[in-house]
Amino acid sequence: MRKSFPAAALTVITMVVGAASATAQSPAVNAARIEAAVKSSWPQAPTDWKERLVQDETMAACSQYKNSPPRTVADAIVAREKAAIKYPADGKLMGDWKKGEKLAQSGYGRRFTDYPPRTENGGNCYACHQLAKAELSFGTLGPSLLEYGKIRKFAEADVKAVYERIYNPHAAVPCADMPRLGAGGHLSIEQIKDLVAYVMSPDSPVNK
Ligand code: HEC
Repeated sequence: MRKSFPAAALTVITMVVGAASATAQSPAVNAARIEAAVKSSWPQAPTDWKERLVQDETMAACSQYKNSPPRTVADAIVAREKAAIKYPADGKLMGDWKKGEKLAQSGYGRRFTDYPPRTENGGNCYACHQLAKAELSFGTLGPSLLEYGKIRKFAEADVKAVYERIYNPHAAVPCADMPRLGAGGHLSIEQIKDLVAYVMSPDSPVNK
């Protein structure tokens, strides 16, 4: 009895160490189970929305690593998503901030009650960000964007960064919590320009 105790303890330690190294080597999650769970999450999805239940390469990689991909995977995501950004043909990144304000306040689009689409999709920015001072109701998942343009002296480089962030946040933050509003086909280039103006224009209430 006295002899077998340490032996048993050693076996337990070996098993624990073995399990830990197996976790480090094998994938963090079961990709096939995730794929199946996503696909079965909305059986009544309209046919032309079914493609939304298929993860693309970036989504699959983010699922695989629970949104904390190793460096090489993170770099690949940034490179791929950067390459997917489309810019306005006229080169102007800012549109009409008044239209942008309405889009920032609108959460319309792609919810199950929004089918078939009856109006343009919104940006839903206030669900996650504070923007204009007068708006008291906003989510806090994302950082406050109050005076975002003013703080950055309305610099052109920041105008471009905001355009890119709205178009495809994974190009800046791999496995971002912010949706790919442009790359995902939720907002048009014109709408994104209006939203950029809302965040970056000196005339916008965001910067007053
Ligand atoms: C579902 C939540 C969500 C929505 C909706 C959302 N964002 Fe974000 N946003 C985030 C989060 C979270 C971050 C911080 C980085 C990250 O994890 O993606 C962020 C970062 C940003 C940044 C960079 C801030 C910085 O640190 O410099 C800007 C600019 C921005 N968002 C603008 C917008 C605009 C404009 C809209 C609407 C078109 C919007 N976001 C919609 C969650 C969201």
